[in-house]
Amino acid sequence: MFWDMKTRDHSLPRNPFKSCVVPRPIGWISSISPTGDVNLAPYSYFNACGEDPCMVMFSGSLRPEGGFKDTVANVESQGEFVANIATWDLREEMNQSSAALPAGQDETAFAGLDTEPARLVTPPRIKGSPIHLECVYHTTVVMPSDSGGEGNHVVFGRVLGIHIDDVVLTDGFIDMAKVKPIARLGYMDYTRVDLVFAMGRPKVEAVE
Ligand SMILES: Cc1cc2nc3c(=O)[nH]c(=O)nc-3n(C[C@H](O)[C@H](O)[C@H](O)COP(=O)(O)O)c2cc1C
Repeated sequence: MFWDMKTRDHSLPRNPFKSCVVPRPIGWISSISPTGDVNLAPYSYFNACGEDPCMVMFSGSLRPEGGFKDTVANVESQGEFVANIATWDLREEMNQSSAALPAGQDETAFAGLDTEPARLVTPPRIKGSPIHLECVYHTTVVMPSDSGGEGNHVVFGRVLGIHIDDVVLTDGFIDMAKVKPIARLGYMDYTRVDLVFAMGRPKVEAVE
């Protein structure tokens, strides 16, 4: 099959796009509202996008009823966030925290999660997540929307500091068997990192 985006008709039971680019890591973003309320939500349009300096991004769609999601609004206005890594052990809480609660209502409490202070930013870290990236807002790139006007806000952040729970380190390396990160596939599907394999880079002979 071929889906020509001009037609907007993929002729499949569900839009396949999000199953084509997989797996997508889940940035579980904690932020603070202008009135000081804690906010937490998962974003799977999330990734690392550079390491000099270390940078991450997440992309928030507009709400169906219009307006930005709280995470986007908070990060753009308050300038800070923490990207907590979502794990198998916290999968139910992660999912709970995606509930569209009214602005000002704390999803950490709703999902039964405890928090702990960050070192360099105001938003808290999620207890139990073994890796936290403390970030300062860098910039937003606004995507177009096929229905006109603004589309997703792609928010970039600079990583100021990284917490790694010592229990997930084996000989100084982050051990995926201990982290058990989860990631989004398309539809309602997820995956867990269970298989890790290594490959060396190809060696290219010097050309004379
Ligand atoms: C695993 C998962 C991944 C998600 N990824 C995104 C995403 O990348 N972008 C987005 O706009 N919403 C995403 N959502 C939906 C948001 O989490 C949801 O709209 C949430 O209510 C937003 O909360 P906020 O308004 O507090 O930011 C995702 C939900 C789940 C469960």
